[in-house]
Amino acid sequence: MIAIVYHSAGGNTKAIAEAIASILPDSQLYRVSEVDSSALSAFDGLIVGTYTWGNGELPAKMAAFYRELETLDLTQTVTAVFGTGETNYQHFCGAVDIFRDMLFAKSRLAVTLKIEQMYQETDYVKINRFASLFRAKLSNSQEHTLS
Ligand SMILES: Cc1cc2nc3c(=O)[nH]c(=O)nc-3n(C[C@H](O)[C@H](O)[C@H](O)COP(=O)(O)O)c2cc1C
Repeated sequence: MIAIVYHSAGGNTKAIAEAIASILPDSQLYRVSEVDSSALSAFDGLIVGTYTWGNGELPAKMAAFYRELETLDLTQTVTAVFGTGETNYQHFCGAVDIFRDMLFAKSRLAVTLKIEQMYQETDYVKINRFASLFRAKLSNSQEHTLS
């Protein structure tokens, strides 16, 4: 089972979260404010979605979630990070980079994705690719028994 945990103020990040959830039928979508993070290590996969705030920073709710994730054992969990931002800021999608660095060290990070504001039809190729790279790493991590 895959958990998609996202935070969105204006709807841009939410729209991608919903698009990814529709591509991955074995996923559950959670707003960050409603997720019980202690339950997340039980999932095979975790996808985090965030917008960027301040000067390339995590929004407050995502900063709290980040600290909670740091306390979990995610060594077997396949993860991915996506986010929306605006390229006219100095650190485009800085929040994605912050989660990427932590999850690269702590988990089996598969893929990251940065999108400019509300995704366009042309971004759909990248969103599909994101989902299939995540799915591929998830399949690789499962034990195969041949007999
Ligand atoms: C005060 C403020 C600061 C922002 N800082 C950044 C930033 O540093 N980097 C970035 O890429 N986007 C930044 N953004 C843009 C948002 O991340 C972007 O609009 C995003 O798509 C919003 O997502 P949402 O609709 O899911 O809330 C900022 C927006 C606001 C209002």
